[in-house]
Amino acid sequence: MVFLTFPSYQAMSEAAADIFAETLRKKPDAVLGLATGSTPIGLYEELARRYAAGALDFSAATSYNLDEYIGLAGDHPQSYRYFMNQQLFSRVNIDLARTFVPSGLSDDFATDGRAYDAAIAAAGGIDLQLLGIGNNGHIGFNEPDAVFSKETHPITLTESTIQANARFFDTIDEVPRQAITMGMGTIMAAKKVLLVANGAGKAEIVRQAVSGPVTPRLPASILQFHPDVTVLFAEQ
Ligand code: GLP
Repeated sequence: MVFLTFPSYQAMSEAAADIFAETLRKKPDAVLGLATGSTPIGLYEELARRYAAGALDFSAATSYNLDEYIGLAGDHPQSYRYFMNQQLFSRVNIDLARTFVPSGLSDDFATDGRAYDAAIAAAGGIDLQLLGIGNNGHIGFNEPDAVFSKETHPITLTESTIQANARFFDTIDEVPRQAITMGMGTIMAAKKVLLVANGAGKAEIVRQAVSGPVTPRLPASILQFHPDVTVLFAEQ
């Protein structure tokens, strides 16, 4: 595992963009695993800036997002599909038809999850998986649990995650109680993993994730078993 600390959020975001640029340079048709939350916003801003400057080309790339809220349609402003369209997809030349976010509307999320994993495998697997980390150590929406869930699956959000994500909604009652997320098997199958974390508030959970016991009680800790993980941490 490579662990790098940066003095600023901007410096971290640029370093994360360098890793995306390197992946796309080596493999223009790379499969990118993408994440939401506030932490990747600076990275997406930087990718959009580099694309506008002619330094990046997403035309052959494919993307699969980690997760989506159950119950929100893709045009809901708090859905992760909407977030990705706003923050990245509409600002670069990725083919929207090759951007995938799990659907938040379905009669059968378990079946959808298996189909999502099968589609990722059929696309050749994820070359670079971006992750944030929740305050409780979740990655995607894999919440602390007694076991690691392997496949993309529906889950019930913990109270702490609902509270943490309430800042994006008008009231806490509007925060969906469930989500669909890539599983730990899906994430661990990525060839390369890039985890970004921002600020002193994340320092302790990141420390535990990278050097504490590997346990489903702190889902990000499983990354210690992945052969190619880079963690970028911004001190402020
Ligand atoms: C949400 C997302 C996670 C993300 C987390 C942290 O719960 N499902 O993928 O890592 O938020 O968000 P932030 O970066 O805003 O702290």
